[in-house]
Amino acid sequence: MQSSTQVIPLSTDVPRHVAIIMDGNGRWAQRRLLPRFAGHARGVEAVRNVVKRCVERGVEFLTLFAFSSENWRRPPEEVGFLMRTFMVALDHEITRMERNGVRLRIAGDLSRFDSTLRTKIEEGERRTAHNTALTLTVCANYGGRWEIVEAIKRLLRAHPHLAPDKVSEELIATHMALGDLPEPDLFIRTGGERRISNFLLWQLAYTELYFTDRFWPDFDAKALDEAISSYAERERRFGRTSEQVRQTGAAD
Ligand code: IPE
Ligand code: IPE
Ligand code: MG
Repeated sequence: MQSSTQVIPLSTDVPRHVAIIMDGNGRWAQRRLLPRFAGHARGVEAVRNVVKRCVERGVEFLTLFAFSSENWRRPPEEVGFLMRTFMVALDHEITRMERNGVRLRIAGDLSRFDSTLRTKIEEGERRTAHNTALTLTVCANYGGRWEIVEAIKRLLRAHPHLAPDKVSEELIATHMALGDLPEPDLFIRTGGERRISNFLLWQLAYTELYFTDRFWPDFDAKALDEAISSYAERERRFGRTSEQVRQTGAAD
């Protein structure tokens, strides 16, 4: 996939690729005096609505952060609940995805998941592999640093005698777990925090960042539209001056 530091991408009003840190489930529940897991359960509904809206708006790629490499630090009951929620969601949503043309992919270190979950993941990916309306990538046990380290391992396995001068951005990018996706145009984080939390560290180089205080379970179609409107107002310069952008249009 083309890199924003090598080639200036075409800018359109609707982002081609949206990446979201779905944060605030726990606080959403706590505000309602509910246990944290109630927020995770409602979070699945928000995913369904946002996927649907992305298809309607013509977004081609949606990447969701569902579980970070650091989320294992949470209490074991919460981790267990999240794993079960993931499993149930895979069971329930695959048929809907097949119907709506959504291709599902899971990215992350799957080796730490149990074999039942891994089988379900494979099945979900296989059943939706032919779909083309939207590619939905769910990042599970994912970390941006993990992805970079993994890419370097893959690169060295493929080219054990590579000369240092031959290492390039493109070569690293092609070995990234998400290397076949275009870079995200729009990044959204719900839940009020203004940080990246080890999400797509490599790919966010020139992504437009959008933060909202809204908790993930409250993030609906209208909220997504607002984020897209904010994106449409941005001037993406990719290092150039504003005058250059206006003279040459969005692309070079
Ligand atoms: C995001 O919501 C879901 C996951 C990280 C799995 P949180 O569970 O982080 O909710 P808050 O941030 O504690 O409110
Ligand atoms: C980021 O949220 C990870 C996911 C949404 C899956 P966290 O709630 O784990 O992030 P921090 O700990 O507040 O940075
Ligand atoms: Mg959180």
